[in-house]
Amino acid sequence: MKLLDGKLVSEKIKQDIKAEAAEFTAKTGRKPHLVAILVGHDGGSETYVASKMRNCSLVGFDSSNLHYEDDVTEAELLERIRELNADPEVDGLIVQLPLPAHIDPEKVTEAIDYRKDVDGFHPVNLGRMLRNLPCFIPATPFGIMLMLEHYRIETAGKHAVVVGRSNIVGSPMSVLLARNANPGNCTVTLTHSRTNDLKAEVLRADIIVAAIGRKNFITADMVKPGAIVIDVGINREISTQTKSGYKLYGDVDFEQVAPKSSWITPVPGGVGLMTIIGLLKNTLAAAKKTIYS
Ligand code: GUN
Repeated sequence: MKLLDGKLVSEKIKQDIKAEAAEFTAKTGRKPHLVAILVGHDGGSETYVASKMRNCSLVGFDSSNLHYEDDVTEAELLERIRELNADPEVDGLIVQLPLPAHIDPEKVTEAIDYRKDVDGFHPVNLGRMLRNLPCFIPATPFGIMLMLEHYRIETAGKHAVVVGRSNIVGSPMSVLLARNANPGNCTVTLTHSRTNDLKAEVLRADIIVAAIGRKNFITADMVKPGAIVIDVGINREISTQTKSGYKLYGDVDFEQVAPKSSWITPVPGGVGLMTIIGLLKNTLAAAKKTIYS
């Protein structure tokens, strides 16, 4: 078993991003700028946005966290998004999900100018991704592809089984793995809660992408020896063993599965760190206008 080390890869790529950001700033007199909108006090969301902001500052980007209370109206939020769309000092704009029930995430996602949609959630970006056109790719799938590229994992012809069909991870991941590209060229099975015999499907996988959101869901009996295992899960549980008061668990039972796998991502220290890289790369591309002019 070998580790797909998100810490190592993300630190290396961050150095490259930092150098490019410095070049951008020297040329333009300003830093790439990411704005995040956060609504309410979901502990996970607050932690993720704080981490995004911290990483922006580490690579020489500006960042703003616009934090709204739970009772903000949809109209207020949409108006703020319109202002930020029009603001030339804002390069990337993300709205952290999930949103409270009274706010329609589809309306919010579509309100963001697709040229600033560094989450890659806007239908224009998703459509362009399907057509293999330049676009912002959702941060987590983007980060996973960068990880596979870094370790020169051979994916062509492999059978990839993606577990979970979310808009944010599973669905775009299945598209990227199937694309005629490197990494890519996989034969992909996208499984979900209505899949008939999930264990049988996962057992056929050369590459498993676990994005279900359930602690230790993928067990050793579901994994073919030598499989490559990508764990997208970040399941937080209250813990007295850590400084933060929380412990993170993946969707994969690492202890059991790791000895059977050829490559595996740890949690923490795997995909989560690569997600940040996907977001930073998209924000830099938005500032440099390399995808949309
Ligand atoms: N919630 C969980 N993952 C994400 C993400 O990548 N972006 C945003 N905006 N919200 C999320």
